[in-house]
Amino acid sequence: MYDDFISKIDIVDIISDYTGLKRQGNEYIGLCPFHNEKTPSFHVSRDKQTYYCFGCKKGGNVITFIRSKEGLDFFDSLRYLADKTGLELPEKGGQRSNKKAEIINRTIEMNTVAAQFFYQNLKAGRGKEALEYLKKRQINPSTVKRFGLGFAPDSWDLLVKYLVTKGYKENEILTAGLGLRTKKETIIDRFRNRLMFPIFDVRGNVIAFGGRVLDDQLPKYMNSPETPSYRKKDNLYALNYARKSEQNNIVIVEGYMDAISLYQAGIDNVVASLGTALTERQALLLKRYTKNVIICYDADLAGQTAALKGMDVLADKGCNVKVITIPSGKDPDDYIKSEGAGAFRKLMDKADPLVEYKVKVYKKHCDMSTTAGQVEFLNLIAGALAKIDNRVEVEMYGKKIAHDYGISLEAILSEVYKNEKVYKTKDTGKLQVEAPTTMETKNDSADIERRLLILLAMDNDYIPEFNAKEGDTFFEDNDHLLIYKEMKKNYRNKKTVRPSSLMQMLDEDKAALFAQVLQNTHFESKELVGKAIDEMIMKNRLSKTEKRYNEVLVAMSNTSDDEKRKELKDEFTRLNRELKNLKR
Ligand code: GTP
Ligand code: MN
Repeated sequence: MYDDFISKIDIVDIISDYTGLKRQGNEYIGLCPFHNEKTPSFHVSRDKQTYYCFGCKKGGNVITFIRSKEGLDFFDSLRYLADKTGLELPEKGGQRSNKKAEIINRTIEMNTVAAQFFYQNLKAGRGKEALEYLKKRQINPSTVKRFGLGFAPDSWDLLVKYLVTKGYKENEILTAGLGLRTKKETIIDRFRNRLMFPIFDVRGNVIAFGGRVLDDQLPKYMNSPETPSYRKKDNLYALNYARKSEQNNIVIVEGYMDAISLYQAGIDNVVASLGTALTERQALLLKRYTKNVIICYDADLAGQTAALKGMDVLADKGCNVKVITIPSGKDPDDYIKSEGAGAFRKLMDKADPLVEYKVKVYKKHCDMSTTAGQVEFLNLIAGALAKIDNRVEVEMYGKKIAHDYGISLEAILSEVYKNEKVYKTKDTGKLQVEAPTTMETKNDSADIERRLLILLAMDNDYIPEFNAKEGDTFFEDNDHLLIYKEMKKNYRNKKTVRPSSLMQMLDEDKAALFAQVLQNTHFESKELVGKAIDEMIMKNRLSKTEKRYNEVLVAMSNTSDDEKRKELKDEFTRLNRELKNLKR
């Protein structure tokens, strides 16, 4: 169904967005986007439309790639690729067909009802204290409306009761994270006496909530748990607004209040990471809208450490990262309130590029008056520079640092490249590739089945012959059998099956095993494919016969029934003969 669509996409183009690929013979090679490495061991084949990493052993086709890099399911991956390439998706792919989608929609719907409930409570008499709190924090009514802020009343179960009257069942309320089950098996509100922040996805759906106390009690915030509609690591607060901004960059702050207050001051290109370390998925999500990201975390130690980590995550995904340091230890919310939007914009303009920021931090951290401190500084700097792909850039920064701190450029560069085989081999202009780690040449039945499926996919014309000779009984692995049946069906309907399309029916680990086999399979002619199929058939028979041979052997020694033993003995003799024939 989607094979035609997928066949119009070129895996090399798609993967090039994630990692630089260089052509080498029939393949493209680059640094693996799934694990950290300095020597490229990630292979992409344009002919086969697959990828395989010899380092971390991940592999698959374009769908498995998007599935694991973007954390999307099959249909969302299709849609993502359609958006990216501008290709039209076949009709049926437009909808998430399953029950999961229904649950997600229902959760979002319930969250929306809850958000309205919280908003009304804020405006009603019992929200007085919360309204006063917002006023104290200088949040004006239009901002309250825009961000859908609300108030969770100080009661045990007002929301739960309200949701029940709206037709939601108790287990649904629990699933959505809006209720908690007590020891007495009753359901109570999760959020009580808190200022409520609805959390939106990029489309503006309410997918979760954060709730803040109105005083200094702890915990300050309480958030929805992970629910069908909310994966904390996949989302950025206020991105639904920031993505519509006309600015060509996005500022990341830590807290709800920071984002809201910058937004209110007219800085609309702001998102909040909500106090967690930035994840790869969040970086990719941002990158859909802009590559230029400015981190603006709190000035405290936790904030600055988080900034350092976050920058690497973002830079790894190809973002242009800068960092704002707010003077006098203020957080963005305080700063904009006391200094105004103009001052904040100036900070944005003056934001430090990644390396410069790191140099500043490291300098503060190391005692430059001692040799030990200088050595530590050099090590840290070298570590930062080693992450930069562009050698010209490394050299430029190296020179500047050498000049500023009186360290020789050679010392810096040799430290930067000390672990790099790529650079030690002198400038041949070619990428040096680490020799692939030894391949496991397995001969177990699952491996034989994989190879057979790949061969049939390489040349679909062998399907009828194979089916006559062996058919479904060839396969012990259930997934493999399903793939085989699908292949037969396609063949009957005169649809081509390609090796790469086998993988999308499998989970990540199994797909990788296919990619590994495929990576090592090269056949030029039809005859060779036919021969290899016959070889797999033989191997499979051998492996099955051996297995049965061993079973019979054990059974013989365990039985005391004479008749049974004779039966087994006959089978054993037959198997023995068969094995000799097969091994010839
Ligand atoms: P204010 O203190 O009202 O200015 O809030 P803030 O949004 O500026 O919070 P802060 O900078 O202290 O923390 C940043 C973010 O971390 C918050 O927006 C929350 O998402 C999260 N966070 C802070 N404290 C807690 C907590 O106690 N529990 C949880 N789950 N998250 C927290
Ligand atoms: Mn704050």
